[in-house]
Amino acid sequence: MKLTYPLTGLLSLFTLVSAQSDSGSFVDADTGITFQSATVTEDITYRLALPADASAEKPYDVIIQVVAPIELGWVAWAWGGSMTYNPLTVVWANGKSATYSSRQALGYYTPVMYEDAKYTVLKGTGTNSTHFKFTALCSGCASWPDFDGNPSTLDGAGQVNFAYAYSRTPVDEPANSETTFSIHDSVGHWTHDLGAARSDKFSSWVAANKVTNSTLRRHVHVGRYGY
Ligand code: HEM
Repeated sequence: MKLTYPLTGLLSLFTLVSAQSDSGSFVDADTGITFQSATVTEDITYRLALPADASAEKPYDVIIQVVAPIELGWVAWAWGGSMTYNPLTVVWANGKSATYSSRQALGYYTPVMYEDAKYTVLKGTGTNSTHFKFTALCSGCASWPDFDGNPSTLDGAGQVNFAYAYSRTPVDEPANSETTFSIHDSVGHWTHDLGAARSDKFSSWVAANKVTNSTLRRHVHVGRYGY
């Protein structure tokens, strides 16, 4: 009996700590960007870098990076922490490259294309023998109109709850970002430390990792990534 109380206390402390954030600092060798990185399940990793002044007060851009095993057909990030009425980033391997699709689910069926999130693909995008990796600047991933049409912005200074989904079944047309794809094998949630993802190097990271079609091709052919 004597052990029960301290153990219970310890356990609840661990629960409290893990509930705070699932992300940690990670320096990506391909881009030189320091991300807050969370590996959620099945070796799927979601990473974020934010501008130094990101907060819930006004919209801001984010740098996102998703890394996943090539055995997976697609993986996705739900920015509002649930499937419907928030921006979804869906990513999959496409030959030596990685393709993304900006979506929004209007119900529990195939999400439609979502035009209000704009992506600029950055260096650190491609596929090697084990993983695909997607890196982009996203404008409109961290802000969107809520169900009543009111603008809402993720608290860039706090901890935010995201949702993921993945499927082992490939999308129907990997080269086409508007492709159809089938339902997930699994979904889940994680908590990301957005406050710790902020950096005053944000703009220089974006500038240093812009790609032209030819640098992207070259990069993809080299195919060596620090996953
Ligand atoms: C063809 C594509 C998809 C279909 C048919 C589909 C269908 C469904 C269905 C039927 C459910 C269960 C709803 C319930 O339990 O009441 C669900 C849940 C969920 N889906 Fe999808 N889904 C698709 C794509 C996606 C994508 C791309 C994401 C992005 C992360 C996603 C995230 C989730 C999440 C987080 C849940 C848990 C419940 C919730 O958050 O509302 N789904 N989905």
